[in-house]
Amino acid sequence: MAGHGYEAYLDHASEDIFIVILDTGIWPESSSFDDTGTPPLPSLWQGSCEEGVDFSTSMCNRKLVGAKTFSKGMAEVGIPEEITSARDRDGHGTHAASIAAGSHVPNASLFGYAAGMARGMAPRARIAVYKVCWELGCFGSDILAGIDAAIADGVDILSLSLGGGPVPYKNDPISMGSFAAVDHGIVVACSGGNDGLERGLVGNVAPWVITVGAGTLDRRFPAYVSLGNGKKYAGVSIYSGEGKGTKMRSIVYNVSKGAVVGSSNLCLPGTLDPNLVRGKVVICDMGQISRVEKGLVVEKARGAAMILVDAVAEGVELITDSHLLPTVGVGRTAGDLIRKIRAVISESDGCSFGETVLDVKPSPQVDAFSSRGPNAVAPEILKPDFIGPG
Ligand SMILES: *[C@@H]1O[C@H](CO)[C@@H](O)[C@H](O)[C@H]1NC(C)=O
Ligand SMILES: *[C@@H]1O[C@H](CO)[C@@H](O)[C@H](O)[C@H]1NC(C)=O
Repeated sequence: MAGHGYEAYLDHASEDIFIVILDTGIWPESSSFDDTGTPPLPSLWQGSCEEGVDFSTSMCNRKLVGAKTFSKGMAEVGIPEEITSARDRDGHGTHAASIAAGSHVPNASLFGYAAGMARGMAPRARIAVYKVCWELGCFGSDILAGIDAAIADGVDILSLSLGGGPVPYKNDPISMGSFAAVDHGIVVACSGGNDGLERGLVGNVAPWVITVGAGTLDRRFPAYVSLGNGKKYAGVSIYSGEGKGTKMRSIVYNVSKGAVVGSSNLCLPGTLDPNLVRGKVVICDMGQISRVEKGLVVEKARGAAMILVDAVAEGVELITDSHLLPTVGVGRTAGDLIRKIRAVISESDGCSFGETVLDVKPSPQVDAFSSRGPNAVAPEILKPDFIGPG
């Protein structure tokens, strides 16, 4: 591989880099934080691994070199019973840390999809995770305390995948704290937010931080809805459980009768009558409850599969979830056609599933959910600065 030498050089160049992730904590058992083959710690690092509930100092290693909690701000407001430990009960911090600097993990996959080598952007950099986000949210004072501790511990790069919309710098703890960090020669990378096409909502826009948007990877997970008239509509799916076959069944949409009333199109709990949907493919419109929960509602009503219709027309906006029953997610354009055709033909229809498609071009693209500019605080400074895997 032509680029291999350079890639290996870059990997090793990051061995002396310390990244502190301010987030919801860390799940230290993840293979992304395995330290096999990692050289001993450079002495510059002053951080440590704090003992906590369900978290012992021995869970840190040469890869995961620190774990701390900052909760005094949160404790002022409440939830004293929330476990004070760097353990990640949410998943976001573990996700963010593995994207930034997860070790190489061979043979990773999600139930067989996207199989291959998983790795972070800087797979040999050292990671420390400072937990500043709790069930109630991430408090400014805790974020500031975390940044101050990271500066004292000798961090090289601060990574913050948190924050709100555009806020004047003087009212924004992340802008202020990161100013002190940059003053110490530290690079600060922040997320731009998940507000999609909403105009001007990109956050963390201070000129001294790198504002990162979210980009796609070069893969897709195609799935299809096949109708009795021979037409096939493309969508997405990462379902991998039972019933993945292409058995033809009839499709139902927004059917209800008797005591079960209203909102059957949304597949809300209690709106699907098993007598009407049993063994059928159920069309559900997105909205009000989570996408995966709709699958649970269909499954409980004994539906055989689900077609989940997005509110957006089509394209990269389609979101793949790991569903509880065979599910194809389609855009609104395909959803409308499927509904219309279903109404005029009576033959059976079905869903089929693809596999992982690699080398999708163009790649990366800006993720649909990634906040766009312009920068509402200082419009003359373009934000976000660039995109990375999100
Ligand atoms: C990964 O999978 C390949 C092919 O299935 C296998 O040959 C190899 O031993 C696996 N490696 C690990 C580390 O499990
Ligand atoms: C679903 O059906 C109900 C009546 O059964 C109707 O009032 C409602 O408008 C329908 N919703 C959609 C989105 O078609």
